[in-house]
Amino acid sequence: MIASAIPAVPFVFKGREELVKQGVNILCQQGPRFLAIMGAGGMGKTSLALYIMNSALVQDNFAGGSYFIPCELFEDAESLVQGLVHVMELTVQENQSKQRVLFDHLQTAQDDLLIVLDNFETPWNHDDSISVKNLLEKIAQYVKVSLVVTMRGPDGPGDIPWEKLGDKYGIPILLPVPAKEAFKAFAGSNLERSNDSESQIDSLLYQLDYVPLAIKLSAQHVKRIPLEALISMWEKDKTSILTEGRVPGRLTSVSFSIDISLQIFKIEGQLLNLLSAISFLPDGIPFWVEYIHQMFPGEGSNFNVSTLLDSSLVYVQNAGLKMLAPV
Ligand SMILES: Nc1ncnc2c1ncn2[C@@H]1O[C@H](COP(=O)(O)OP(=O)(O)O)[C@@H](O)[C@H]1O
Ligand SMILES: [Mg+2]
Repeated sequence: MIASAIPAVPFVFKGREELVKQGVNILCQQGPRFLAIMGAGGMGKTSLALYIMNSALVQDNFAGGSYFIPCELFEDAESLVQGLVHVMELTVQENQSKQRVLFDHLQTAQDDLLIVLDNFETPWNHDDSISVKNLLEKIAQYVKVSLVVTMRGPDGPGDIPWEKLGDKYGIPILLPVPAKEAFKAFAGSNLERSNDSESQIDSLLYQLDYVPLAIKLSAQHVKRIPLEALISMWEKDKTSILTEGRVPGRLTSVSFSIDISLQIFKIEGQLLNLLSAISFLPDGIPFWVEYIHQMFPGEGSNFNVSTLLDSSLVYVQNAGLKMLAPV
């Protein structure tokens, strides 16, 4: 079950060369390294982590092994320990505690080892987050251990000196040129070339805010639907075109991926109203710190905004509060 939850390194991966290089450099410095890959769902955090982890330099540097932990499977500290023990293939005797076995292994490691905690928002936002924080901080103390975490939100978890890729909100959306390369690579031979198709793709990608997951899912529709129709569907139905297949999952549906954020960060009631309000404002809320109280009178709007920022569903640009188009 855990093995099948570990994703393959994606074939199509555009416009992230610089971030891969930075991540590899950080992990190849001396001593324990803590790399945080933050951002909204579908931005490409997991893909980036896989590329960094599998680069030749990183593989050489961590002779003690590199381990990918799909944390969406583990809600609390206990199951996280279980996951680590399983992925690291440690043997636990009947009367031994799993945590003891894990810590002994990390303590006696001869070579540097790398643990990649993917989708860490699941255990981190669980009810017993104190235990998860304690576990993470204890693991980080072993001198041979370096960590990579991918997580929705702006900041890495716990009191750990994370080095963050991208800017203060995490990794950025793709630039238009690599976004288009990715779209074309995903669409493959299904893409009909016409005089207008280039500008139509540009316009679609612009409307999708260059979010990788949205690019991939929209390109998959090109197999069945002409570009022009796809654009007018997006204008009309928004995220409903960004799904693939029958069963919704985090990588097959943008709206599902957004729903996961709503659940994990418990966005409901007032908070959900605020989120919906922002989503109807095409330019977001300019100078939100000054205007939020006028727009949403009542208690706690600053606090609500801070929760929304934690979930990465909204971000701040030039002092304005904004939202990625697919949201
Ligand atoms: N740079 C990229 N170029 C092309 N496709 C990408 C890129 N980054 C991510 N993707 C695709 O977008 C989807 C979401 O990426 P993923 O890494 O799972 O995002 P996250 O972990 O932030 O939710 C995946 O299907 C992935 O293959
Ligand atoms: Mg991910």
